[in-house]
Amino acid sequence: MPKYVPFQPLSLPDRTWPNQTIRHAPVWCSVDLRDGNQALINPMGPAKKMELFKTLLRIGFKEIEVGFPAASETDFSFLRELIEQQLIPDDVTIQVLTQARPQLIERTFEAIAGAKNAIVHLYNSTSTLQRRVVFRADKAEITKLAVDGATRIHELASQVSDGRVRYQYSPESFTGTEIDFSVEICDAVCNVWQPTIENKTIINLPSTVELATPNVYADQIELFCRLFKFRDRAIISLHTHNDRGTGVAASELALLAGADRVEGTLFGNGERTGNLDIVTMALNLTTQGIDSGLDFSNIKEVRRVAEFCTELKVHERTPYAGDLVFTAFSGSHQDAIKKGYDAMKESGQEQFEVPYLTIDPADIGRQYDPIIRVNSQSGKGGVAYLVENELGFRLPRRLQVAFSQVVQQATDSTGQEMPAREVGKKFLETYVSP
Ligand code: KIV
Ligand code: ZN
Repeated sequence: MPKYVPFQPLSLPDRTWPNQTIRHAPVWCSVDLRDGNQALINPMGPAKKMELFKTLLRIGFKEIEVGFPAASETDFSFLRELIEQQLIPDDVTIQVLTQARPQLIERTFEAIAGAKNAIVHLYNSTSTLQRRVVFRADKAEITKLAVDGATRIHELASQVSDGRVRYQYSPESFTGTEIDFSVEICDAVCNVWQPTIENKTIINLPSTVELATPNVYADQIELFCRLFKFRDRAIISLHTHNDRGTGVAASELALLAGADRVEGTLFGNGERTGNLDIVTMALNLTTQGIDSGLDFSNIKEVRRVAEFCTELKVHERTPYAGDLVFTAFSGSHQDAIKKGYDAMKESGQEQFEVPYLTIDPADIGRQYDPIIRVNSQSGKGGVAYLVENELGFRLPRRLQVAFSQVVQQATDSTGQEMPAREVGKKFLETYVSP
């Protein structure tokens, strides 16, 4: 029996739900060093960029957007260092962002000279709003910008002889763009790039700003895929932001709608409310029995590096990584968790099935023992669990009830949590050596 199995909410006599579920992991691309970095109060310097880059490699990312080298000297020299010091493993592709202007594209190619594998990522904004108020340009002008940029990239890439250059195009603000225009502009770019089945182009469809519910984004992706002439020669990539708090949900649904690849950042750092949180999305897959291909077995270390490099704290309630997410204060939850662990221990079953916990904390380098914490909201289950952990013996039920009242009185009077060690001490003081 695998440790995690896909969730099956209910079976009706004639069908089983859900009939559609994600079956394998997408290709992941970290944009921590670009989208994440551009949103920081204090953007990362070379040392922090390097530390984060090495951490991304350890996690197992094979595609990493390392910056916007034509727009930032820090990004340019960081790239040069990565390439010249040969710090990019052969199976890892670095990605660089550029706008369509020829000088920026030329500078981008200077930045990646000598790289074994690179993705040049061209973008321009296509939404109705941006066309009207930012660029004051019509569809033909916006298309021309993209096609001219794609052409210059194609010319420069064909001169590269010591590495493989792949292409990526993003119609920025895709979610605010008419689908037929998104398709038209991506078709036009692909007409220039001429992707093949062996050498696919990445078409990245960003929810630059989350404008609607996740199903709407998924519908946009599905419709795009149906209409796009180069669908079979393209990798369809998702790049969701989190303005409505549903960046992960939108990407999960859009994967079901046919996409292949997901861009995001650790813990969702990024512009405004952030990018899609890759940690959450990857571990959501793990809990459904799908190998995400990313290693979060030491999530505390990943969190330490991310917090250090971004100077942003991971919230206590952040899925999987937050301080409090494997903690239950309420009595009934504590009782249920304890019973779940006991049942697993007794039966020796492999499948992780503990009420209120979606993942075994040990699988991400966290511990069982801080799961149960005791304050005035706690009940006998939690108190008994801590006594057992601290002192090594199980309390009979009546003693559990009696001692939990003692703990409740104490925590009520202080208004504070009682740490595990204190619970053990209190038990000894009350019953063993009063
Ligand atoms: O959010 C966005 O649209 C972007 C693009 C540059 C891909 O970050
Ligand atoms: Zn973005």
